[in-house]
Amino acid sequence: MQATSFDWSPVAEAWNEVAGRGMPNKGRLDGAALRLLEPQGGETIAELAAGAGELGPTLSEAVGAGGRVVVSDFAAAMVDLIRTRAEGHPNIEVRRIDAGELPFGDDELDGILCRMGYMFVGDKGRAFSEARRSLRPGGRLVFTAWQGPAENLWATCLGMAAMQHGIVLEPELFSLADRSLIETHLARAGFTDVALEEVDAPFEFESFDEYWNHVSRLAGPIAVAIAGRTPEERDAIRETCRGLAEANARAPRFTLSGRAWAVRAS
Ligand SMILES: C[S@@+](CC[C@H](N)C(=O)[O-])C[C@H]1O[C@@H](n2cnc3c(N)ncnc32)[C@H](O)[C@@H]1O
Repeated sequence: MQATSFDWSPVAEAWNEVAGRGMPNKGRLDGAALRLLEPQGGETIAELAAGAGELGPTLSEAVGAGGRVVVSDFAAAMVDLIRTRAEGHPNIEVRRIDAGELPFGDDELDGILCRMGYMFVGDKGRAFSEARRSLRPGGRLVFTAWQGPAENLWATCLGMAAMQHGIVLEPELFSLADRSLIETHLARAGFTDVALEEVDAPFEFESFDEYWNHVSRLAGPIAVAIAGRTPEERDAIRETCRGLAEANARAPRFTLSGRAWAVRAS
């Protein structure tokens, strides 16, 4: 199974902390996704790329004892976190799944949820076709994805700082930023009813140091690349990032812009 060029297991613990803490902007994004998904009693819902799996219990409650929730991720360490959070919820099934190649039968699912995951899947055409195939007619695919670098200075400042120190990575984070690209992918996959909502999701921190400690540990491939540098190199990247972030942060406190799409397709 070759799914993703990067294994998120090394950053799983940082995602676990965020799931426990509850960031306001994450709550806004996840809230929009749940509202669009509208899970109903008795339904079968799959969550893909679920990270630390903090929405599993909410989905479990929404579908009730007669429903079924499959909560999944591709990174083994994320799947372990999902399993822990699913304890005590007998209608949750925990699985390691590649979002690009689904193990479900045709028409098996009522809904699919994927929060900030499809950007990292290489073959998006196949991934969306797999979602359409697995959903019953009228079933809902709901996902969130970041808009572009100009709307997401929380990520751009870190990415630019890393780049200035020789860390150049595929800009996967922004690979679904374009509205018409999303619409084209979904239409090709056979979805006929597609709605995109904009979600304003700025990151509010107390200070640059809080921003750095948070984002530089969560940012998947960039976080791993930075962690692999010497302490001196890490300090240099942090100071470059400080200059960029301080130039772009706005009140209240230390806020950096964030804006995403929340998409519903059936
Ligand atoms: C930015 S994190 C989002 C985690 C979670 N959905 C959330 O919003 O808190 C991206 C997640 O996508 C997962 N991922 C990346 N490629 C994947 C793939 N091909 N199939 C399934 N999961 C994947 C990673 O392991 C990681 O947990």
